[in-house]
Amino acid sequence: MSRPAFLCRALAVLALIGAAVPARLRGEASPAGGAHEAGLDPAQAQALLGSVPPDREAGRRAFQANCSGCHGPNGEGGRGPTLALPHLPRATSERAIALIIAQGIRGTDMPPFILQAADVRNVAAWVWHLGQLPPEIVPGDPRHGEKLYRDRGNCAACHSLAGYGGAIGPDLTDIGSRRGAAYLRRALVDPGAEVPQNFSVFRPEANITANFLLVSLVTRDGTAWTGVRINEDTFSIQIRDFANGFHSFLKSELAELHKQWGQSPMPSYAATFTPAELADLVAFLAAHKGQP
Ligand code: HEC
Ligand code: HEC
Repeated sequence: MSRPAFLCRALAVLALIGAAVPARLRGEASPAGGAHEAGLDPAQAQALLGSVPPDREAGRRAFQANCSGCHGPNGEGGRGPTLALPHLPRATSERAIALIIAQGIRGTDMPPFILQAADVRNVAAWVWHLGQLPPEIVPGDPRHGEKLYRDRGNCAACHSLAGYGGAIGPDLTDIGSRRGAAYLRRALVDPGAEVPQNFSVFRPEANITANFLLVSLVTRDGTAWTGVRINEDTFSIQIRDFANGFHSFLKSELAELHKQWGQSPMPSYAATFTPAELADLVAFLAAHKGQP
């Protein structure tokens, strides 16, 4: 690319970001496009939107290449949330989506992307289009799934749902909007597959509680503890054991400290449930979408 062309594109990206910020700060759900949005005059809007309409098909291909690993090939969700929903909390317009693509979402797994302005626009148009498609149908009987969750699964020992349950694992109240069905199924049969790890390139600054780290330690007097790390600094570490008990240790009183990155304290349910029961449980979880 020649230098002026590069500068043009860079400026276009900056314009895209700059113009989208005020709308976002006002927290408005703005319709896609529109010269009045963000107080732009028609000439500025023209420069921002480009003279050609976005190419949705090119957006679909770029989405497959860059986004489907986390959001699923059709935006049905996976490690990242479902994007194929009519209303998303942050992605309230094509321009808001473009801003998210360019900046990422700080403190989460959603990374910023360095793409050309046209690609950002095309992908944003595709993601916006996904929201108009019918939602993913999750097979299974959620009511039977709820029973399995309570009885044989004993999931509430570690997870809370709508305010009830333990705190060893993440709260599942909005799990259905954060994760897709395929991911949920895998979380049940192979819990170690996607334990968030804070050394991952995509998680540079996620907070400690969002990074489940299994810790085992032995104190100088020979007592062994296993639990999930809640907090840690240079001199001390706090863990929650599997009976939901909270313990704080000075590192100077420890004989051993093992951090089991990538391991999950969650047992695999592959042998506990039949495939049909797993489907019911997934349907139950997928229906938990939190507050709209
Ligand atoms: C490494 C995984 C990962 C990749 C790759 C990824 N995302 Fe995300 N994305 C996430 C996660 C996780 C979130 C949710 C962040 C949160 O709210 O905690 C998210 C959130 C979003 C949101 C916000 C939805 C809302 O309204 O809250 C949009 C839009 C989005 N991603 C679009 C994209 C697009 C487009 C791409 C490709 C250019 C992409 N993502 C690539 C993980 C990813
Ligand atoms: C011994 C504690 C424990 C039990 C019992 C347990 N889990 Fe978990 N679970 C965890 C922990 C810790 C994590 C986070 C680390 C990981 O991803 O494995 C987790 C992760 C998950 C996730 C992924 C959450 C996310 O945001 O990615 C789902 C879904 C889940 N559990 C569902 C269940 C269900 C359903 C049951 C019951 C059938 C269950 N868990 C039983 C501890 C537990």
